[in-house]
Parts: sequence; structure tokens; C-alpha cells
Amino acid sequence: MAKTTAGSDIEREVAQLRETLNRHAYLYYVLDKPEIKDAEYDKLYHQLKALEAEHPELITPDSPTQRIGDKPQAQFDQVTHPVRMYSLDNIFDEVELQAWEERLYRTLERENDGSIDYVAELKIDGLAVSLYYENGYFVQGATRGDGVTGEDITQNLKTINSIPLKIPVEGKQGVPKKLLVRGEVFMPVESFLKLNERQELEGKPLYANPRNAGAGAVRQLDPKVTASRNLDAFFYEAHVLEEEPVFKTQKEKIEFLKSVGFKTNPGHGYCKNLKEVLKFIATWDEKRHTQNFATDGVVIKVNDLRLQRELGYTAKSPRWAGAWKYPPEIKETVVEAIEQSMGRTGVITPVAICTPVLISGSTVHRASLHNYEELAKKDVRVGDTVKLQKAAEIIPEVIEVVLKKRPKDAKQINAPKKCPICQTPVEKTEGEVALRCPNKSSCPAQVQGRLEHWVSKGAMDIDGVGPALIEQLVENKLLETPADFYRLTVEDFLSLERTAQKSAENAYNAIQQSKSKNFERVLNGLGIKQVGKETAVLLADRFGSMESLQSASLEALTEVDGIGPTVAECIKAFFEDPLNREMIAALQKTGVTMAANKKPAGETSDKLAGATVVLTGTLPTLTREEAGDLIRAHGGKVSGSVSKKTTYVLAGESAGSKLTKAEALGVPVLDEAAFLKKIGK
Ligand code: IVH
Repeated sequence: MAKTTAGSDIEREVAQLRETLNRHAYLYYVLDKPEIKDAEYDKLYHQLKALEAEHPELITPDSPTQRIGDKPQAQFDQVTHPVRMYSLDNIFDEVELQAWEERLYRTLERENDGSIDYVAELKIDGLAVSLYYENGYFVQGATRGDGVTGEDITQNLKTINSIPLKIPVEGKQGVPKKLLVRGEVFMPVESFLKLNERQELEGKPLYANPRNAGAGAVRQLDPKVTASRNLDAFFYEAHVLEEEPVFKTQKEKIEFLKSVGFKTNPGHGYCKNLKEVLKFIATWDEKRHTQNFATDGVVIKVNDLRLQRELGYTAKSPRWAGAWKYPPEIKETVVEAIEQSMGRTGVITPVAICTPVLISGSTVHRASLHNYEELAKKDVRVGDTVKLQKAAEIIPEVIEVVLKKRPKDAKQINAPKKCPICQTPVEKTEGEVALRCPNKSSCPAQVQGRLEHWVSKGAMDIDGVGPALIEQLVENKLLETPADFYRLTVEDFLSLERTAQKSAENAYNAIQQSKSKNFERVLNGLGIKQVGKETAVLLADRFGSMESLQSASLEALTEVDGIGPTVAECIKAFFEDPLNREMIAALQKTGVTMAANKKPAGETSDKLAGATVVLTGTLPTLTREEAGDLIRAHGGKVSGSVSKKTTYVLAGESAGSKLTKAEALGVPVLDEAAFLKKIGK
């Protein structure tokens, strides 16, 4: 390999290629105004890649080839934010907005003369991130976490093409040596829809909204996966470290960010007063839905940074900013049909099939009507115009019928007397609204549903075996209960239409490998009514084996922390059913795990001996199962609910009522890092 000397031709060539590529990436990803064709860009990129392969000493951190690291990470490190990341208080209507402004003037001890000006920005429904640039180079990026510490996701952020790896240090305004830049990473709506299309084709669960999909993508340990998800980011905040502040207004900050190459929110405006803020809010109410990013409101910030400093912060949020929340969008559409949908539990649910409408950024054409009592109460008929809304921005819901638009021939749909699939007369349990098909053993929809549940992510997580394949196997009488999966041969798969050798082998291997998955997955996979992932963990923990669980009394079941009488009844009833006992016996013969792993692999200790730990929220690196395994490995017990007897609550992101309860009871709360430290990791 030829050694390169400073200023050599090759060095110049590499530097020039790097610059050219970075400029075109900026034009394409940030400004959305490409000047060259993709193929041309690729050609230059490969030239650079080849030169760098020959002269690795010429690779710089801002080379476009450095965006995708080649090794998955083992975990994310914790990062302490040099400047805290706050959240925002919500503002729900005009009255609250006026009150918010009044408070500003009061805090400043000034008369409300309308002199405060603002900037308004669409509130992106994504994931807050903080980027740190030193001497112009992007050196570290982190999630918000709890606002004080977040996770180091530098590798993943580098894969986002619109994030500059280097910003000019001697730019117009003289870029500070140490700069924190803040903004929001999000999955563009188009990428989200495509991702879900792919998920559906592969028989995988759909993401509820772009936010969840984006958050999942950013938290992948393998940057290649993140890179494949087409994330984007807008930036709205800059903090200069260790130097005198250079900005005077919020508006200047945005202009600065733009000028050094960051992508900023197109839904942005300067507002001379509160009236203009209201105008901004009204203008964007409709317009925001046509953007390629999901929004849930408008962030309003006092423009003058001197005033911002004077106003300061409450415990959680700046007094100088607020988040206006738009009410959920409601749209009208026509009900074209009311279908009966049935899942693995045999419950028959009416679903309205509607003329597709765009609501809150995605197209809706099915809306659940929950049950037949609800259908009757709302009196939804085929042909009706209805108002739709996305409840919690996830599940489309029929709010009401627009009666004055009801056509004469609107058709009423009654609760079915028979199962739409197998024609067995339906049943209704006392005190429940749900209609059920009682033909558990051979109703095809229930059989299919149970099998799909067995292979699903939260249960046995069998890759490559999706709904379509299961349907084929059932049709060909190769599959009826979960135990049958383990008797399938590669030839069985090959006997199906359109199955290639490779996918047959993959499916076969994935099934065989699932035999050693842990006991709680098996328990979840059984599909016991009211028993999901969490309860399965509790049961595995308390009873340890299928045998002892099967013979557990109602009292023993109710004694488990986190299992109430209703759930206990369901469990008891499940194991009393001879069909279920038969299914379990068959599974046992196949070699599927039937007991909890008493000695989890890896280190064990008694550091948590006698401790009861409750898990809540999403931990940065550990899955719930892994955390549970660790707790048990170190002598502790996992419980589902917080009480005075709880030793610790291990809490992650989006922790809910369990965390609140722990705080109220004074139970010590650990984050993942503190937990790992406790067990000596
Ligand atoms: S300003 C201290 N501006 O909203 C200032 N936040 O509820 C706080 N967000 O954590 C942030 N778009 O993730 C700001 N244009 C915008 C925003 C925005 C989305 C998110 C951000 C923040 C959360 C606060």
C-alpha cells in the first residue's frame, strides 16, 4: 500500500470527493433539491469507497462512507446531558393560551402590552434527540431519556442522511467550538406506510403510528436496521457550551441551524403577538395532515432569549414555551359493509368497512364497532355516513352516524345467530357483551388464530412462519394444533404450492429452534384467556413448571401478586378443559420447554435475595424477559404489582401508574443502569 503524504494528489482527490458527496447529500436530503441523478451519486460514492479501502488513513469521521457502522452494538451507553432536556406543558384551547400569556407577563412583573413576540413550530410527533458537535464534527448523539441522562445512539443517528456529520466551524456566524443541537427524529409518513405494508406481507404485527415505528428504529442495536428505516430529523434548538451566548432570539437560532446545514421544520413561523400565534395554529390545522411527518400540535416559544432566561423553568418544563395540542381529527365517510371478524378466542366482532379516508396522517378503511350491543346502540347501518376518529391516534373508531345523510335503503345488520365461519350457533356468556363461537376445537378461524398466536413475536417468535403459510398448512391438513408444528418436515413445506427449498428449510429450522424458548413464551403461546406476556411471566415465576401450574388451585393462583380472581378463574378453566390438556400433553412430547429455567445461563448471585422487584416501562437495553431472568438469577422475585412489600421498581421509558404508585409509597425506583450496578454488572 502506497503511503500517502500530506497534500498528495490522492489526499486531495479523497477530500474533494468527500466534499462533493456531502454537498449533494445536503441538496438531496436537507433541501430536497437534488442536482445530480442517484446513479451519479452512487458512482462517486463507490469511487470514494475504493480510494478509502486503499488508503484507510485518509478516512475522516465526516466521510459519507462512515454513516453506517458495520457492527451491531451490544448495548447503548448512558449519556448525561450537559444541558437538561425539558418537556413542555400542554395548552388545549384559546382560553388556556391567553392564560399562559398572562402568566408570562405576571412572572416578568410587566403589564400586558402585547409586546412579547413568539416563534411557532409544528410539534413533531417523534423522538427528541440531542447532538453534540465539537470543532464542527458530530461526535455524540443521545435520546432524551429522563431529561437528565439519555442513551448514546450516535451510530444510529449517523445513518440519518440529513444529519450533518460536519458543520462549517468558521461559518457566517462563526460556529462555536462546542455546540449542542436539539431536535426531533421521526419516521416520515411515507416510510411508515411502506414499512407497515412490508410488515403485513411478512405476516408481522403492524406499527401503531410513525412515532412508535421511529422510536423502535432509533433504538435498534444494529445501525444497519436503523438505516433501512428511512428516518429523518428536524432541528429547533442550539446551545453553545463554555462560551458566551451568541444568539439573541429563538428565530436567530433556527436561522443559524439552517445556515450550517441542519434540516429545520417547514411548519415554522415568526409571530409578532398572540393573535398571530392563533393564526399560525389555524393555518396549520388542516395543512399539517398533508405533510410527510406526523404532528400533534404547535410549540410556542417566547422569541427573546433574554426574556426566556428571565422566565426560566418549572421542575419539568420551560415557562417560556408551551405545546398547543390539536384535538383529534374527525372525518366523515360512508360505511360500505359491516363485516364479522373473528380471532383466536372465538369472539365475533362487527367491523365497519368504509370508503377510505385520510385521518391524522393515515388512510383508514376499517373501523371496529367493538361488539353487537355497541353496533345496535350507535345504530350504524350499511350505507350510512359516519364520523370517524382515531382513538389515541391508533385505532380508528366510529363516533356516530350522521342521521340526516342516511339513505332510504340503509341496511341494518343484526347480531349473527351462527358463527360466520363454521356455522355453529353462537353463545353469550352471562355478564359479557361478547358473542362467541363455541366451536373451539374445529372452527377454522379459531384454529388459524391460535396457530398465528403461537408463532407471534410475544409468544414463540417463529420467524418465517406467517398467516399465509399457516393457512396453507391447515388447508392441507398438515396443521391443527401448535404441537403439529413440531412434526412438520421440510418435505411437508415443499409439498405446498410456491414454497422454495430455502424458505422451507428456514421455516423448519425456526420451528425446531423454538423448542428451547423459555417457559413464559410457551405459556403466553397457549392463548389462555386474560393471560398475556406479563401474566405468563408471573405464572412461570411462581409455579415453575407446566405440571405444577396445571394442578394449581384457585387459591394458589389468586395468591400470586398481580393475578386477580377473574384471571385465576380463566387459568383454572383453561387447564380443566380436556382439549387443552390434550394439546399440552402433545406439546410436551415434542420437546417444547415445559418448565422455567431454574438456573439461567450466566452469572448468579444472591445480591437480590429476598427482594421483590416490579418491572415497568421500556428499559433502554434489556427486554422484560432479560430483566426478569437477571432478577431471578440474582435471587430476587418478580412481581406484577407495586405494594408496600415491593423492594424496588425497575422503571424504563414510558413507565406508567406503577411508577407513580412506587413514588407514592416511597418504594425505591431504579433505572436500568442502577439495577445493573446493583447486581454487579
Ligand atoms: S422545544 C425546552 N420544539 O416535544 C424546549 N419541542 O413536549 C422543549 N417537540 O421533548 C422542546 N417538536 O421532543 C420543541 N418544534 C419543537 C418540537 C418539540 C416536537 C417535542 C420534543 C420535546 C417534546 C416536549
